Amino acid sequence: MRIHSDEFMPRELKRPAHSNSYESVAAAHELVSLARTHGTPLLVTSQSRISDNFYRLKGAFEKHYGDVAIKYAIKANSNPSIIKILAGMGAGMDASSPAEIDLAVMAGVGKDRIMFSPNYASRTELEYGLNAGVAINFDDIGQFESLSGSGVPGLVSFRLNPGFGKGEFPGITLSGPDSKFGIPESRILDAYALAKDCAAKRFGIHMMCGSNVRDPEYFGIITSKILETAARIKSELGIRMEFVDIGGGFGVPYRPGEKPIDIEKTAEMVAKEFKSKSAEYGLGKPQLMMEPGRYLIADTTVLLGTVNHVKRNEKIFVGTDIGMNLLLRPALYGAYHELYVVTRPDARLAITADVVGEVCENTDAIARDRRLPEVLAGDVIAVMNAGAYVYGMSSQYNGRPRPEEVLITQSGKQLVIRRRETSADLMSTARFTEQG
Ligand code: LLP
Repeated sequence: MRIHSDEFMPRELKRPAHSNSYESVAAAHELVSLARTHGTPLLVTSQSRISDNFYRLKGAFEKHYGDVAIKYAIKANSNPSIIKILAGMGAGMDASSPAEIDLAVMAGVGKDRIMFSPNYASRTELEYGLNAGVAINFDDIGQFESLSGSGVPGLVSFRLNPGFGKGEFPGITLSGPDSKFGIPESRILDAYALAKDCAAKRFGIHMMCGSNVRDPEYFGIITSKILETAARIKSELGIRMEFVDIGGGFGVPYRPGEKPIDIEKTAEMVAKEFKSKSAEYGLGKPQLMMEPGRYLIADTTVLLGTVNHVKRNEKIFVGTDIGMNLLLRPALYGAYHELYVVTRPDARLAITADVVGEVCENTDAIARDRRLPEVLAGDVIAVMNAGAYVYGMSSQYNGRPRPEEVLITQSGKQLVIRRRETSADLMSTARFTEQG
């Protein structure tokens, strides 16, 4: 079977009021066929959607500013093939750990295009970044100090916590007084002063204020804030920023009816602040850097699962093989993921059910009180927006191996980009020892 990746996934989630109907009956059949061929749980990623997303974002920003760098936030989806695809289109990488630095290097990304943004990292990890020769984005002054005696990165950046932030859930709001991230404005000058005293030569500044935001104006507001901070640093310490990194956070629609972020307008608002504030404060023309994860990857992937058993208590529970061990976001944040029963592409919505997994926890649900068609064991469910923060946040809890990942290439080939784990994989790092 050859399928064209964009044909099996909608860009905007629409659903007729009373029907389970997916993008098209043909698209639903494609997904069922993939599930039957590869087994479930299965993650199916569209390469052409990755490139659409990347070029749409890049094009929008480059229309307004000449020097734009997109560093993909590897944490969103660290499959090596996906990293390689993004790197091949010119994306740099934002790594949050030594392993993510390694992944970026293995994907062929030059060290000048890798940013290491850890938080609460050990000295050993920071030294790893230093020795890898990548730019380091320090989350605190003490993190910079902990490298003393080891050396100073060629390019030094600090993460600003501007005192406010915004995210879809409290758990993904990443700045403000309650957030563990970054350095408040009141201390940021001290950070750069120390780096300058330690003979750092090249500088940038960074922030990441929250995730899954679809409001263009908000991105304008945070951009203006970071440039004002860069201006203070320049006027008081004479430090010129080579780049100003506004973080990631660009949202995607998860619920039917939600609109995609207007990325053209977002780029316009950000670039307007960037240009006017840089000129007003004499900051020159710093590189406009960003680190999107979700925007590039969330809607590239569908998660396929199978219904194992339907229980009819006071409530109906549709039990599947895709529980919180694989899709943690609903249990962790109350996140919503649209889902379709693709084996019944035109059925009427007839029941209200919790869609649950096989894990022994009562938070193990991927949807609550969801309208579904009548379902039976063997039906296939497709969960949307499974590209970002799904495999990466999955676990083997309750002895559940992680799923297979398949890439549908631009020419419609199906490539297994990660094999399914086995029970042997689950035990591969442990040892049975003699007792006593
Ligand atoms: N840069 C840094 C330093 C980050 O910490 C993050 C995400 C990003 C960039 C990318 O953010 P994005 O463009 O994807 O919003 N697990 C949560 C999301 C946590 C985001 C953490 N940091 C979820 O499932 O919604």
